[in-house]
This record gives sequence, structure tokens and C-alpha cells, in this order.
Amino acid sequence: MSFTPALTHLLGTALPIVQAPMAGAQGSALALAVCQAGGLGSLPAAALSPDALRAELAVMAAQSQGLPWNVNFFAHVPPVPVPEQEAAWRRSLAPFYAEHGIDPASITTGPGRSPFSDELADLVAPFRPPVVSFHFGLPSPALLARVRAWGAKVLSSATTVEEALWLQAQGVDAIIAQGLEAGGHRGFFLTRDLSTQMGTFALLPQIVQAVSVPVIAAGGIVDAHSVAAAFALGAAGVQAGTAYLLCPEATTSAVHRAALQSEAARHTALTTLFTGGAARGIVNRAMRELGALDNQAPAFPLATSAIAPLRAAAERAGRGDFTPLWSGQNASACRAVSAAEVTRSLAQGVPASTRITAIAQSLAHAHRTGSTWQPTEGWTELSAAEAYAIQASVAKALGWFPDGPRAWKVGGTTDISAAPLPEVRPSPASQPVTWVLPAGQDEVLIEAELAFRLASAPNEADPMACIGTVCVSVELIGTRLAEGLSAPANWKLADQGVHAGLLIGEAQPAARFTAFTPSDWQAQACHIRVQGPDGAVAVHEGRGSHPAILSGLQPLGTLPWLARHARAQGQCQNSGLRSGDLVTTGAWLVVKVRRGDLVDVGFDGLPGVRLCIA
Ligand SMILES: Cc1cc2nc3c(=O)[nH]c(=O)nc-3n(C[C@H](O)[C@H](O)[C@H](O)COP(=O)(O)O)c2cc1C
Repeated sequence: MSFTPALTHLLGTALPIVQAPMAGAQGSALALAVCQAGGLGSLPAAALSPDALRAELAVMAAQSQGLPWNVNFFAHVPPVPVPEQEAAWRRSLAPFYAEHGIDPASITTGPGRSPFSDELADLVAPFRPPVVSFHFGLPSPALLARVRAWGAKVLSSATTVEEALWLQAQGVDAIIAQGLEAGGHRGFFLTRDLSTQMGTFALLPQIVQAVSVPVIAAGGIVDAHSVAAAFALGAAGVQAGTAYLLCPEATTSAVHRAALQSEAARHTALTTLFTGGAARGIVNRAMRELGALDNQAPAFPLATSAIAPLRAAAERAGRGDFTPLWSGQNASACRAVSAAEVTRSLAQGVPASTRITAIAQSLAHAHRTGSTWQPTEGWTELSAAEAYAIQASVAKALGWFPDGPRAWKVGGTTDISAAPLPEVRPSPASQPVTWVLPAGQDEVLIEAELAFRLASAPNEADPMACIGTVCVSVELIGTRLAEGLSAPANWKLADQGVHAGLLIGEAQPAARFTAFTPSDWQAQACHIRVQGPDGAVAVHEGRGSHPAILSGLQPLGTLPWLARHARAQGQCQNSGLRSGDLVTTGAWLVVKVRRGDLVDVGFDGLPGVRLCIA
């Protein structure tokens, strides 16, 4: 089975959410706000002059703080102007010119929208945008090669299965499946036949089936429910436009905002009136009186200049009669809230499994490359159960446990009420637990800890009374430490530290520990005996060193201290530790072991554990 990387891994974002580039309705402010909320913010370049584009790119490059962002270009083939067609177009607009007192002779001609070109590539190259998306196909292979040379990921829209296959053959990194519900221009480029165009939920699964690159659903994606539906149909991510149009960070005009918030937004249609290309907008006077599709408009983008003065005149009077009121079919979720809030509400629909895969892949990547992993809002919203699933997934991705899943330490002070409790794996000394190191790795650090499972929530008066079982926990920490990756803070939620851990000691019922007093805990001695393949033996010893103990707290106060600490760190949302939680007591002893070693780990008064490092 082929492995499709999570879209987030491909794009470098925390969330599989792309803010649709929307020429004329937004600039860098919206894009940056979405980037900061964990999505991929997009800067639309199509309607910008070279100077304006340079200025916006400079803002993106300076303020994106290392987060990935997208710049979007049109890739249409400019049509050859046909003077007779232009004249017929203007004749059909003549009554409206007269009504608004516009002299047709004063209207300039011009394309209005320029496709991506060598000049634009020269302009953009110094800013090295991490992602470049195209609408209306792709630029020439030579131009595309220039974009790739910056290291940018390339996306483009497909409106049919044929277009998706064509884009895949050109080597795009991901395909945006643009359904018929979508606001703005149809991105079609292999056909102009509108009868080929499908709704998002008909198009998306067909494209997903046909291609092997990740598919991003666009069109009618406005809230968590539609995001969830897109993922259910195989989307690797979503691209939402209309949902962001009322955000304060967007530059949507006043007449456009008013239309989106009115009853009129329920009625959208495709029209060629405003640019010559078929695009979806809220039905307005021009569409009603001139015919949304059945009109004289020249080919895209040549129709733009003749209607522009009518738009300006009507807008001056506060009306959107000639304004392209681009909107998708579902503007019902459009709210005047921040882009971060829109992004957050869309993120609620991303399935937990996708979030887990996404975060696990980026953590594993950070681990492999030694790069810093930036926690984002998407991370802090994870439940503890999801965090542990991520831990398992990271360990799997890194090959920590190639022989299959084992009992995980679900420990520390995180609220794990929603997480499955780990199976405690008995390991009598006669049967060593085999610990298989990943290929190419011959040594590893292990950490021995005591772990308690709580029989009841601790109470201040007698915290030790809550301990139900005690066992030895041995954690494999070397893969990170050996590679010099420090700063485990980012990993906190996945575990109290950095470890893939196993509870491998035999669980001891509390009854066996009536003699186990708080001061035993403080003074508890641990030993790790390592016997190498050559028979040489090294014995390491250590004692309790939990920070609570080191900072002078009496052991009796340690459990409540852990609970308070967990609350302060935001690692548990409820009252703290409760029955069933596992608590590890901090590092007791860390030792480097090698492939072939036989390792005995023990604490005074507890049965030991034997590990075979293979
Ligand atoms: C106001 C507006 C402007 C748009 N401009 C662009 C654009 O410049 N480039 C582009 O690739 N897509 C553009 N689109 C289309 C979007 O990329 C996307 O397909 C669409 O917004 C998705 O449907 P939705 O609006 O229902 O979310 C625009 C859409 C809107 C609503």
C-alpha cells in the first residue's frame, strides 16, 4: 500500500486547512492570521500590480515567522482580443453607461489579470514562498521548474477527473478539487463546458480514487461538519474561501460584506459578466438584466475593463449592482469573526486520526532532522488520549518498537481519564523482555523509574494511601538523546517527558507495600546492572530525585504537588489526579546500554526486571 504523507507534513502546517486565495477580497493580513492559527494562509497575486505584489510578499516574508504560506497565481492562456466582440460587449453595456453618466470613450481596455510569467517569477523568487498555488492549470514546464527550484510545493485546482490526472502528470504536490459550489472563478482549463462541472462531493471521491497525491477539497466547505464530510470522502485537507470573507482581516468591500450578510447570499450563480471567465457570485442586478452566462462578454479576462466603471459608479452610491459579489453556494456560516476563529472552527471537523497522524509525522520529522517543532493551537487542543496516540504513532514512525505495540506508559500527571489504561506486562526475571533497537542504532539510553497506579484520588491528609499498585517502569529515551535533540518541552503533552515508555515491571498490589513508607520513596535506591555480550558487568546505582523531593518537599506532599503542577501546566482539565492514573516519580537512573546487553533493573524491595537489548 502506498503511503500518502499527511498534507500537513507536505505543507509544513499544523492544520490541513488552506485559506483560499481570494483576489480582490484579501491580502497579507488575512493570510498571516490564518498562518498564525496553524493553517496555510494564501496571498492572491492575480489582481495586484507588480509593486503591490512586491510589497505584500515582503510583508509575508517578514511576518510569517517561519510558518509556511502560499502565493497564488492565475495560469490562464491570455486570449487574442477580438475588436468586434469588445464592441458588441460595450454596446450591451451602453444603457448602463448612459444611466450612470459614463462616457464609453473614456474606458480603457486591458487584460485586467495577468498570468504567471518570467517577470513575475523574477519578482517572487527572492521571497521564496514555501507554497505556490495556481488557478486555471499550470504555467509552462520551464516556469514551473523555476518555482520548484525555490523549493516551493506546488498546488493547482482541478474541476474534473481529467484535469486532476493532468495536474498529477505535471508533478503537482497536491490537487485542489474545486466543486461547483465554490465561490469565485471556476479553475477549469481543459474544458470550458460547464456541463462537465460537478459538486464537491461528487468530484472529490472520484479525484481521490484517480490520483495518488493528496487531494484538498474546495467548494462549500464552511464549518466543522463540511470539513468532516470532506475527510470522510477521502480529502487530505480542505480549502475554504467564502467562510473567511467577513473576517476583519479580509479586505472584502462594504457592498460585498452587506450582500454576504443579506438574504441575497442564498442565491448565487455562475456568471461570465465580470471578467469573461465563469465564476460564482451572489446574483445582482447586472446578472439579472444582462444574463449571468448568456451575454456578450469577451473571453477571460478581457471582459473586466468595460464593466469596471459601472462597478465603481454603483459602489460610490453604495450599491453592488455591477460588483462581482463572489461567494460560494453556502455563505450561511459566514461570520464577522477573526480568521483565527474561523480556522479553529474548521479545525474542529478534522478527524482525530488525521490530526494525530499529522502531528506525529511532524514530530517524527523534527526528531529525525533535529529541527525545532513548534507547538500550535492545534496541538494544545488535543485531548490526553490523542496525545498518547501521537506518542504511539511517533514511536512507530521512528521504529522504536518494530516488533509491534506493547504496553505504553500512560503516566505522568496528565489527566488520562479518556485514555485506555495500559496493559501492565509482567516480566519475571526468568523471561527477559526483548527490546529491539531500530536498524542502524546500536546503543540507547534507558531510564528506570518507579510508577504508581492510583487506587483513589490522593487526599492531602494521606496521599500515600491512594497508591494501588507499584511497578518498575523502564523508558527508552536514547533515540532522542543520542541524537542530540534537546528541549523536550514541546513533547510534554505526549508524555511527561520525551520517552517512549514501557511499564514492564510486575505490578505489585498495594497490600504488598504496607511497609513502603514515604521515606522509603525518598530514599528508594535503584540499580541497573548491565552485562555485555563479552560477559563484562557494570552496576549503576541511583536514588530518588524527583524535583518535588529535591526542592525540599516532604514525600508526603509529592502527590498533591504533582496534581498542582499538572494543573498549572494545563496538563489536566479536572481536579487533578484520580483513580486509575499512573504517576511516575521522575528520573531515578539513566544508563546507556548497547545491542546485545542483558540489563537488570531493580528498586530496593521490588522485584526486578530483565531486558535483552536486541
Ligand atoms: C472572493 C473570492 C475570490 C477568489 N479568488 C481566487 C483567486 O484569486 N485564486 C484562486 O485560486 N481561487 C480564487 N477563488 C476560489 C477559491 O480558491 C476556492 O475555490 C473557493 O473559495 C472555494 O469555495 P468556497 O468559497 O465555497 O469556500 C476565489 C473565491 C472567492 C470566494
